[in-house]
Amino acid sequence: MKKIGFLTSGGDCQALNAAMRGVAKTLYEHYGKDVKIYGLLDGYKGLMYGNYKELNPSDFSGILTLGGTIIGTSRQPFKKMGEPGEGGINKVEAMKANYKKLGLDCLVVLGGNGTHKTANLLSNEGLNVVSLPKTIDNDIWGTDMTFGFHTAVGIATEAIDCIHTTAASHGRVFIVEVMGHKVGWLTLYAGIAGGADIILLPEVPYDIEKVIDGIQKRAKAGKKFSILAVAEGAISKKEAAMSKKELKAYRAKNPYPSVSYQIGDEILKKTGQEVRITVPGHTQRGGSPCPYDRVLSTRLGAQAGQLIIDKNYGNMVALKGDEIVPIPLSEVAGKLKKVDPDEPMIKEAMRLGISFGI
Ligand code: F6P
Repeated sequence: MKKIGFLTSGGDCQALNAAMRGVAKTLYEHYGKDVKIYGLLDGYKGLMYGNYKELNPSDFSGILTLGGTIIGTSRQPFKKMGEPGEGGINKVEAMKANYKKLGLDCLVVLGGNGTHKTANLLSNEGLNVVSLPKTIDNDIWGTDMTFGFHTAVGIATEAIDCIHTTAASHGRVFIVEVMGHKVGWLTLYAGIAGGADIILLPEVPYDIEKVIDGIQKRAKAGKKFSILAVAEGAISKKEAAMSKKELKAYRAKNPYPSVSYQIGDEILKKTGQEVRITVPGHTQRGGSPCPYDRVLSTRLGAQAGQLIIDKNYGNMVALKGDEIVPIPLSEVAGKLKKVDPDEPMIKEAMRLGISFGI
């Protein structure tokens, strides 16, 4: 009897269930009744404290289109793995002990950057691990695409689309703040797809004067409104020149709830134009996965299942071109896939007159 543990860790995203379904169906297809799947509840926490439930084939039916995760998730920061857990437990030793106690042959981990650091650690500690890249941020090194990303692009784009009509009637400046943590893929895609006039990314520090030039250029050309797609991690040139410590102190004094409010205030003060801010927030992680994510997560799941069958452990399944390939966890862990400031999409958008505040 093969025993496989599943866990989903970090912020959720769409197509987590679709990906687990892909792995499970592949395993059931191959092993029939000779495989047991356990869902470790709420991410690594489930493995640490021995909270799990046995999952049956019926648990994986009807979940292709279901957002969220049927086994729950939580954030368990990698940098805190060395700190004692509840009841003073050693978190890593507890995870190893529970893996052994359950008699697992492999742990399937679905997660983002932090999750992959812990997955690599557990793999180095001798556990058999296979992982899948999930996140709306698309910032996992080693894969061209993560699942969840395209669904989130759709939601953020729809937010910008809705703003377009009201912006046009009122002649205001609108800012739509897009998730993505410290990486700008989501903002870049949604900004272009939604026809934003100005796109501000963490990887391309902005000059507020250039942002204002962009707005005024549009006003002079007779356009009544401007729409800015601003990444939640966007940073000004002035801030980018600061040390980590200086930036922390500067932001601590900052009265704004997020970067968009700071930019909005600067635009108002310098141009007198009315500014409105929209933060779609966690709606970007919600709802049903789009067809692209259903296909990608199913393919990744099928390949992860095959790696388990082949006992090819210690890998993350990744999209490379048109193929799904294994990438060693040791190569993935600790790296971030950021937007290159020389990214062709940025250059192409600039040819259209879209400003990046530079
Ligand atoms: O990593 C996914 C993500 O949605 C980021 O885009 C965002 O910065 C973060 O998670 C929000 O995290 P939380 O749900 O813990 O507030």
